[in-house]
Amino acid sequence: MHYVTPYNRLESAAAIRKGHSMLTVTICVGSACCIRGSDELASAIENLLKRENLEESVELVGAFCMDTCSSFSGVSVRVGDELFTNIDAGEAEGFFYGQLLPRIQREAETS
Ligand code: FES
Repeated sequence: MHYVTPYNRLESAAAIRKGHSMLTVTICVGSACCIRGSDELASAIENLLKRENLEESVELVGAFCMDTCSSFSGVSVRVGDELFTNIDAGEAEGFFYGQLLPRIQREAETS
């Protein structure tokens, strides 16, 4: 999986807080994704949100099978309307900074 370069954290976090928008991130907790580490991924994302002081910008929820587990070997995550599949729980930080954070920023900019 390829991720983009991390951003300037302080500047971006301040901009996001100004907007006070809330992005829904849904992590699959169905049995296949659970075995593949969805609990670890959720905990890691929760910790990264705390680290970046963005807990109020994201609603982190769980959902049962998103019907992609038979095609991929990782965890399925929906960020807003966009579905990500095959997320490796061990690459939570890369997913957070490369995929999730830019969407949090865009959400804040459009609200
Ligand atoms: S259990 Fe997660 S997509 Fe099926």
